[in-house]
Amino acid sequence: MDNKTTQITADSKSLSTSFQACYSSANELRDLLKMMMAGQSFKRETLILSMENAICALEKAYTYEKKMLNCDTDELDTKNMQSIPEEVQDWLSSTFTRKLSISNEESKHKFKSIANVIRAGIFVDRIYRRASLANFHISTPIVDALKKMNDWDFDVFELHKVSDEQSLRYIGIEVLNKYDLINKYKIPIKHLENFMNELTNGYKLYDNSYHNVVHAADVVQTVFYLIHRTKLQDTLTDIEKFGCFIAAMIHDYEHTGTTNNFHVKTSSQMALLYNDRSVLENHHLSRTFNMMREGETGILSALNNDEYREFRDLVIDMVLATDMSSHFQQVKTIKHLLVLPEYIDKSKALSLILHAADISHPCKPWQHHQKWTHSLMQEFFRQGDQELEMGLPFSPLCDKTTTLVPESQIGFINYIVDPCFQVLEAMLESILDYKDKCKTIKEKEDSSKHHGASTSMEVEKDRSSSMNNIVIRNPKKLKHTPWNQHISKNLENWKDIVSNPAKEKTFVPRRI
Ligand code: CMP
Ligand code: MG
Ligand code: ZN
Repeated sequence: MDNKTTQITADSKSLSTSFQACYSSANELRDLLKMMMAGQSFKRETLILSMENAICALEKAYTYEKKMLNCDTDELDTKNMQSIPEEVQDWLSSTFTRKLSISNEESKHKFKSIANVIRAGIFVDRIYRRASLANFHISTPIVDALKKMNDWDFDVFELHKVSDEQSLRYIGIEVLNKYDLINKYKIPIKHLENFMNELTNGYKLYDNSYHNVVHAADVVQTVFYLIHRTKLQDTLTDIEKFGCFIAAMIHDYEHTGTTNNFHVKTSSQMALLYNDRSVLENHHLSRTFNMMREGETGILSALNNDEYREFRDLVIDMVLATDMSSHFQQVKTIKHLLVLPEYIDKSKALSLILHAADISHPCKPWQHHQKWTHSLMQEFFRQGDQELEMGLPFSPLCDKTTTLVPESQIGFINYIVDPCFQVLEAMLESILDYKDKCKTIKEKEDSSKHHGASTSMEVEKDRSSSMNNIVIRNPKKLKHTPWNQHISKNLENWKDIVSNPAKEKTFVPRRI
């Protein structure tokens, strides 16, 4: 846990102490008031002491609230950005805040049956336990690549290469299968196969160098890591896991390779359809829900009404939260929730996980991060070319002749990615405590069997609150935080490139 995470945790501790102080002061004063009303006598010193406690607690709470109101995480704090180039500042504020900038056939059925892939999941699982190969036709390189799905440094490019460009299909089915969701939700194999084909085709539609099927596969694997390695999975219901992985799979479906701001400023059909609000994210959701709901790509037919409603709410919340213009608001909300002695809404927690996974490549090994950056820049520059053709001003980072790539990456890491992962880490540390809470409930339940009904009611109260929400108490340290070392290393590398312009010449955007 580094300094910033420690700060969040310290804030959280001091706030919960101050909340407790407020609460006990209120109780003390209430008791005294009751005594006064009943005409009972008490010592003057008692009243003075209670009033002093109350003043102290109120002042602390006031100071904290004031700090939160002035908190710089709502929008970008441009005052502290003097040292970074203006173009990068402009890009950060136009992309990550709600301000608008002024300035087929061939790919189908690549392998015989999806049933093979499903078996591959079981098969890969088996390999972990005992190297029994069975007789399924999944090539060894694919199996080898999938075996590393539990690693933060997982090489999605390698899987994409060895799987004949079917990375999303393999990873998607592997995660659904790992949690037995295909069985649980009785997804017809043929429909799943069609759905995965359509997803893959949709990600290829605009021939994007960044927003393509590899990016989707990468985000699914990263979400899987964050849920699996942190044991968050133990706090989630099946429908939440299902929603979470589907949200990751569909989150950029049919991405046009241009930004929301571009859609708005060109008054595209999509912008008209979605009233200029989260244009792309609404499109990803609307198109895929149409697909998932019915017909040959319907994978939700076995969900009952309640399950469908819960699934849909969660997936919509999560994908809409990938709109980068809500970044600061989202980070601020979680920070706020972390310091309150209450619950974190699961949908907010899972949304942060998807958002963090979506911007996680600067937290991955340098070779991967560099590749992603190259391909994203290529996509931005393609938008720049369109803007030039349409006689529109360049969007930030889209002019291939002037864009300062390493500087923009330093800004992106320092102002967006690093703070987001600090909050994510603090949030996951808080959630880790959930299992202990369950254990406590179990112990209470056992003891209630011996001690009668009143304890049992307490247990019921605890149980209902903890089952619906993630409980925040005594944060624990995460065992694995591999992103921290990569963030530092990648930042260093970009800084190195800035201070050695000769190295920058080697920076040529290319496709993945
Ligand atoms: P998307 O994947 O839709 O959502 C996250 C966004 O973050 C992504 O689109 C990009 O617009 C942006 N993004 C991701 N990586 C970088 C990067 N290295 N530099 C700048 N912007 C990025
Ligand atoms: Mg997106
Ligand atoms: Zn994305």
